[in-house]
Amino acid sequence: MDFTLTEEQLAVQSAAREFAQKELLPGVIERDKNMSYPTEQVKKMGELGFLGMMVDPKYNGGGMDTISYVLVMEELSKVDSSSSVIVSVNNSLVCWGLEEYGTEEQKQKYLTKLATGEYIGSFCLSEPEAGSDATSQRTTAEDKGDHYLLNGTKNWITSGGTSRIHLVIAQTDPAKGHKGINAFIVDTEWEGVNIGAKEDKLGIRASDTHTIMYNDVKVPKENRIGEDGFGFKFAMKVLSGGRIGIAAQALGIACGAYELSVAYAKEREAFGKPIANHQAIAFKLADMALDIEASKMLVYRSAWLKDQHMNYDYASSMAKLHASQTAMKHTVEAVQIHGGYGYVKEYHVERLMRDAKITQIYEGTSEIQKIVISRSLMKGNLYEQLVTRNV
Ligand code: CAA
Repeated sequence: MDFTLTEEQLAVQSAAREFAQKELLPGVIERDKNMSYPTEQVKKMGELGFLGMMVDPKYNGGGMDTISYVLVMEELSKVDSSSSVIVSVNNSLVCWGLEEYGTEEQKQKYLTKLATGEYIGSFCLSEPEAGSDATSQRTTAEDKGDHYLLNGTKNWITSGGTSRIHLVIAQTDPAKGHKGINAFIVDTEWEGVNIGAKEDKLGIRASDTHTIMYNDVKVPKENRIGEDGFGFKFAMKVLSGGRIGIAAQALGIACGAYELSVAYAKEREAFGKPIANHQAIAFKLADMALDIEASKMLVYRSAWLKDQHMNYDYASSMAKLHASQTAMKHTVEAVQIHGGYGYVKEYHVERLMRDAKITQIYEGTSEIQKIVISRSLMKGNLYEQLVTRNV
């Protein structure tokens, strides 16, 4: 096993670290407080190539591997997960989905703009009554010959107020269950796309999360992704990769809290010595480091498996489950280590704690990850499943 990062991977990691410190850190507290979308920062991330990292350069992407993407997600999320979730959804759900399953025409028309950040994309699966139970889509797309007529409501849509392109999952034939579901590329400038109010969230407050209503939206036939009935599998495939990005986000949040805690514990003195030298604090830091290292291995492994075109379905769920648990547990500990300072905004750890919670909810709750993992267990030897080339 080779855990060495390449020169290219180290360079992109360092670029993301510098960007996070110089461009994301200033103003992160204000943006969180005021729920202000990081417009300038997203523009700059597009210029740096962070919004279409894995896309083939022929579609204006960075042509990088999933490990590089994970390293960038980790660095951005140490500082600002409101910004990193925009990166994650655009890269792994929207760009990857289109590049892997879209037609050449769809790639030329949409992917080339999404990869540069000229367009931002949203992934529209969740509904008021279909969150974890993703086969129960109420949004319908009625076949009208040369187009589909889209009607329904989607909620918790990341970048819902700013994105130009939506990948919408909708039911086209309810009698066929999940085989009657399709995925469509929808331009938000089309008539009938209505953006609801912005959600006032616990964490990732600067990302804009909205409910979207589709009222008689005419979607051209050529905007369906894949064969008729492919939509549910499309969503599952895309989410399986997307979970690697969110796992990296959780890892970054945990690392951010850990780095702040170590620095604080070395500086802050109590009972005549730095608190890092008291076992009560030292043991917390050791536990944090241990869980972070374990998460890192799971996250990097799932990225590596994806790059090798091997089966990564259960590996990405394990990475997301472990990294999000680590983020939640240890951001709480980071607040504890900081004492009263941890409870105020200036010291950042309370924001990291609030941001951590969403990583246990979106792109599949922790319980959903356990379903994916346990179903894989039933199929037999997990290691053999990993080395199966399936993509
Ligand atoms: N790849 C390919 N096919 C897959 C698959 C995968 N990873 N997972 C399932 N499928 C296929 C199955 O093989 C099956 O097909 P066949 O009938 O042909 O065999 C079909 O899909 C149905 O599968 P299941 O019977 O397993 O489906 P299920 O209803 O039991 O649900 C689930 C499975 C794992 C619970 C799924 O519904 C799920 O992942 N739910 C969570 C959805 C989710 O993550 N939502 C997040 C919203 S998006 C978001 O958060 C984005 C954001 O903005 C941040």
